[in-house]
Amino acid sequence: MLSASHVSKSFAGIRALADASLDVRVGEIHALVGENGAGKSTLVRILTGALAPDAGDVTFAGSRVTSFSPLDARRLGIVAIHQHPSLFPDLSVAENLAIGGERKGPFSRIDWDARRTRATALLASVGARIDVDRDAASLSLPEQQLVEIARALGVKAKLLILDEPTASLTPQEVDRLFALLSGLRAAGTAIVYITHRLDELPRLADRVTVLRDGTTVGTEDMEGVTEARLIQLMVGREVATVFPKRTVPIGNPVLEVTRLSASSVGVRDVSFQVRRGEIVGIAGLVGAGRTELARVLFGLEPASGGTVMLNGTRSVPRSPEEAISQGIAYLPEDRRRHGVVLDLSIAANLTLAALDRFSRGGVLDRAAERRVADDLIASLGIKTPGADVPVRQLSGGNQQKVALGRWLVRPPALLILDEPTQGVDVGAKAEIHRLMGELAAQGLAILMISSELAEVVGMSDRVLVMRGGTLAASFTREEATPERVMAAAFGTAA
Ligand SMILES: Nc1ncnc2c1ncn2[C@@H]1O[C@H](COP(=O)(O)OP(=O)(O)OP(=O)(O)O)[C@@H](O)[C@H]1O
Ligand SMILES: [Mg+2]
Repeated sequence: MLSASHVSKSFAGIRALADASLDVRVGEIHALVGENGAGKSTLVRILTGALAPDAGDVTFAGSRVTSFSPLDARRLGIVAIHQHPSLFPDLSVAENLAIGGERKGPFSRIDWDARRTRATALLASVGARIDVDRDAASLSLPEQQLVEIARALGVKAKLLILDEPTASLTPQEVDRLFALLSGLRAAGTAIVYITHRLDELPRLADRVTVLRDGTTVGTEDMEGVTEARLIQLMVGREVATVFPKRTVPIGNPVLEVTRLSASSVGVRDVSFQVRRGEIVGIAGLVGAGRTELARVLFGLEPASGGTVMLNGTRSVPRSPEEAISQGIAYLPEDRRRHGVVLDLSIAANLTLAALDRFSRGGVLDRAAERRVADDLIASLGIKTPGADVPVRQLSGGNQQKVALGRWLVRPPALLILDEPTQGVDVGAKAEIHRLMGELAAQGLAILMISSELAEVVGMSDRVLVMRGGTLAASFTREEATPERVMAAAFGTAA
């Protein structure tokens, strides 16, 4: 179906792709993997006509593609779900789903009922229950992702490219997506699937191509390739992929939440504690209210009842500024919208939350700022030519590392992490887990939302499970088996 060979692309002297090749057969699911910044999304943007390659050949369905406009790509039947959802925020879900999927003459009237019915059906096929009249801007990140997937499925594609579609989805939604993709494969669609969750590949992919530093280093049959082998191809050396959880002494409560409710976002009657040195994980399905709870604790949504104590002082922050001044830090799930300032440099982003540390008499000490930024770039493995590069130019996973790094400059009392390792590669994930252990050892209280069961169960001292806006269960580290956590999330008996 598709053969891309010797594709190269540079941005102002930075080589994003150098001799990348990818062959995808009709009716196969072809995985594309590589470290953060390896060039995966750049290749996707070339194949969808969003970027013109500097060099290289692409043939599609037997003919050489000479022009790469988005319209050409669409005509050929190439559809992509991008890493960062690209819905039109001011349009409703139904309107977003209609784009590219309705056949209408320029003067025909919009059949709103048909449009809503079709949108609802598309969403149902991906298992999403979302009101189609809502504005896209009001959707959570996983909801946006589900709408994107539904939109791509609504367009009859010959080649479907998915760039990390499961990053913010829970196992249930992932299963449903995989079933859909298998169905499309059986119907002859060629599928390119990008992920950092290598454990997904054996049950999904037929073949896998590995990119390293913009170059294709191998294509293998999925059958017979081990995860260790893939990592070795990706990284070019051995890396630790699992960081064992550290046991640290657990101290006094830092955060005490009692019967907290927030009626505007559907959070009801939530009570729990996080103590010094403790990592408390929150599991649950998309829409269970986990992100909403975090937003209330960080002052982004108003509480309607209950109490929050921080280090023994009663406080429900009314704004993020108040939360930060009380010692609360929050890594949001939707980091491009809330976690980083895209047009500021990496150094400026990293030091943003601790500017006073870098000012002497009102003057910014650039050298100090630079040293801290360089240290974090090295310790988090942020792939960039320098600390002055605007965050917008980083790959998705590297932007995430900057968003996390911001809070490590001056560690807070309570760190709230919403999907901390979503979209980061295997090496960086182990590094983030190591950092979390180190921060806990320093006496921080950490509240971590994660859709990855292995992460919640592996990293947490206590696991809370949310369902329908409230706490459905609480498990100690010993009690928290993946089966029990899932059962509580679904509301079935374990
Ligand atoms: N517009 C741009 N300007 C400058 N550099 C860019 C631009 N877009 C991408 N790059 C660089 O190209 C390289 C490849 O980025 P790309 O987004 O393709 O990586 P990726 O494999 O998708 O990574 P991730 O897993 O983090 O999403 C990175 O070093 C990135 O910083
Ligand atoms: Mg990418």
